Amino acid sequence: MPGTAVIGLQWGDEAKGKIVDLLTSRNDIVVRYQGGANAGHTVVAGDKKYKLSLIPSGIFHSHVQCVVAGGVVLHPKSMLAEIDTLTKQGVSIQKNLMISDRTHVIFPWHLIEDALFNKVGNTEAIGTTMRGIGPCYRDKVGRTLAVRLGDLYQPDFQNRIAEIIEAKNRMFGGLMCDIDKSMGVPGLDVEFNAKQIVEEYLDYAERLRPFVADTTDYLLNAVDGDKNILFEGAQGSLLDVDHGTFPYVTGSNSSAAGICGGSGVPLHFIKKIIGVVKAYTTRVGGGPCPTEQNNDIGVKIRTRGNEIGTVTKRPRRCGWFDAVAVRYSVRLGGVDSLCLTLLDVLSTFDTIQICTAYELDGQQTRSFPSSSEALRRVKPLYETLPGWQDDLRSVKTFSGLPAAAQNYVKRISELIGKPVEIISVGPDREQTIEL
Ligand code: IMP
Repeated sequence: MPGTAVIGLQWGDEAKGKIVDLLTSRNDIVVRYQGGANAGHTVVAGDKKYKLSLIPSGIFHSHVQCVVAGGVVLHPKSMLAEIDTLTKQGVSIQKNLMISDRTHVIFPWHLIEDALFNKVGNTEAIGTTMRGIGPCYRDKVGRTLAVRLGDLYQPDFQNRIAEIIEAKNRMFGGLMCDIDKSMGVPGLDVEFNAKQIVEEYLDYAERLRPFVADTTDYLLNAVDGDKNILFEGAQGSLLDVDHGTFPYVTGSNSSAAGICGGSGVPLHFIKKIIGVVKAYTTRVGGGPCPTEQNNDIGVKIRTRGNEIGTVTKRPRRCGWFDAVAVRYSVRLGGVDSLCLTLLDVLSTFDTIQICTAYELDGQQTRSFPSSSEALRRVKPLYETLPGWQDDLRSVKTFSGLPAAAQNYVKRISELIGKPVEIISVGPDREQTIEL
């Protein structure tokens, strides 16, 4: 099974980290291929809890090489902080981590731009993680203001960054005329100092040097050598910049569409795609979420599921499982099988609802609308299933689940048209049911 991918099928936070960690022992390499420090995973191993943002979850397995590929946007300070924390926790990093010299580097101006343009005019705010992700990808596509990690080691880096800073200072100077300072946007008065930024980033570059490599070349050699490679998606498919709920999305292709572009491996290498999906729905930030429950049900799911953002600590918006949205992500990603997480959270509901179709402008549909404005107008049509009261956290087999929970899983599989292969009933590795 050379190329396997694990991707989120909703709006992120599907607990992919645990699943990647579980599958890692069967792989030689784990690759993170898009996104940046906007992602957050918690991996529980034994009595230890680890928080990861940029480093692939495979890092806890000493035989595995972890690759941060070129499609990622890199905030060097966050990466170094993560390396330091894991090292202090006794995790071996030195030999197991590679960072692509093609990753695009996040600078202080990206964070300010994120704050400035998170909301423009009267539209709903995107509600970004404020990590500079979108602005860094914007510069990547724009090219002339972009810096890749490999550029930090080039002799002309100082001149190049000075030119970029001059352009950015001019841009911010212009913005100052237009933007009311009462918006309280942090840092708008700051004029970037080229010397200071060069020093800061050259220091990061030195500390990152042991990890920096041409990971595309490394991965292509691994493909030629028939290595087993696991691709770890960040965010969820519905946050994909092209196929998600635009503009309330992230800056990268967070659906399966991003795997080859972000890592450089050829399409035909990916043989299996596992879609990770929560037993309910959550969303952080702005944008439509048809099955959101702005009521006691949503509060109960949030409380039981501890649905607070790992990165931004924002409470997540919670609601019932949306089979229309997930069926779309599954088809979009060519997903082969499902991993259903957080099933234990739904215990104690008398009844559970699943959205099986939308009503849009008087018409019933199972298509996921391309427009967020249309998605705001849909009325979710629900099917009601019996709930269960039992605590699922120590259940080890599918037949050990209460009948109502088994029915719920089967119904989701039926509606999505894919088998459920893994069920997660708690954060520990042991709290996993393989079917
Ligand atoms: P950005 O990725 O920081 O630009 O944020 C864009 C949107 O994606 C916002 O709604 C964020 O809340 C959301 N988002 C980004 N990363 C994650 C994630 O890892 N989990 C869930 N939502 C995310």
